[in-house]
Amino acid sequence: MEIIIKETSETTSVMAARLVARLVREKPNAVLGLATGSTPLMLYKELVRLHQEEGLDFSGITTFNLDEYIGLPRDHEQSYYTFMWKNLFSQINILPENVHIPDGMAADVPLACAEYEQAILEAGGIDLQVLGIGSDGHVGFNEPTSSFASRTRIKTLTRQTLKDNARFFNDDDSRVPHHCITMGIGTIMDAGCILMLAFGEKKAEAIASMVEGPVASVVPASILQHHARAKVFIDEAAATQLKRADYYRWVYEGKPDWQLDA
Ligand code: F6R
Repeated sequence: MEIIIKETSETTSVMAARLVARLVREKPNAVLGLATGSTPLMLYKELVRLHQEEGLDFSGITTFNLDEYIGLPRDHEQSYYTFMWKNLFSQINILPENVHIPDGMAADVPLACAEYEQAILEAGGIDLQVLGIGSDGHVGFNEPTSSFASRTRIKTLTRQTLKDNARFFNDDDSRVPHHCITMGIGTIMDAGCILMLAFGEKKAEAIASMVEGPVASVVPASILQHHARAKVFIDEAAATQLKRADYYRWVYEGKPDWQLDA
């Protein structure tokens, strides 16, 4: 795991966007795995800027989102479908047929999940997966004790996640759907590279457990220690509980130029 600590979430997001943009330029038919929530908003804003001001071309790009709430129709203002179109897809030149988001209204959830996995396979697998992290250490909506071998499936959110996400539902956690469809941890681990972002003190404990704690399903994100190409972009606030933060900074500062954007 490579840990990149920067002063602010803005700087961090712009650096992360540079990596995504580089992949999009080098592999115009790349497959991106995308996340929702507040964390990737600045990354998406920068990708929109790169498209609008520098012509970054998404016309050959395919995307798969990590998750969706069960029971929210696409046009619900808090569906991840709405989130993605509002914050990214409507502002870049991606083809709608290349966008995939789990269907929270699927009549047959296990079938929809199996088809989602199949679609990822048929697209050639995910080249780069963008991730946030929950304050309880979840990735996607793989809550603590999720199987490391899991694939796309239904999950029940923890009370902590309902509380964390209540801010999107008028601060009322009873309005947050309890179930979701999420890519599994096995699905996420199959991605060619992982780009995780985390900002703010609220994420500091989860980040420390993920990076420096044991690999254990109670901290789902800790499995990323086993991913050969995982980059973790965090701000100073999210780095406060890392015991080896100085080492990560030293490693980054000493990187040879040729390795900086790799
Ligand atoms: C969202 C997702 C979640 C979030 C996590 C952090 O698609 O998969 O794992 O990344 O809950 O959410 P924020 O960014 O709102 O703190």
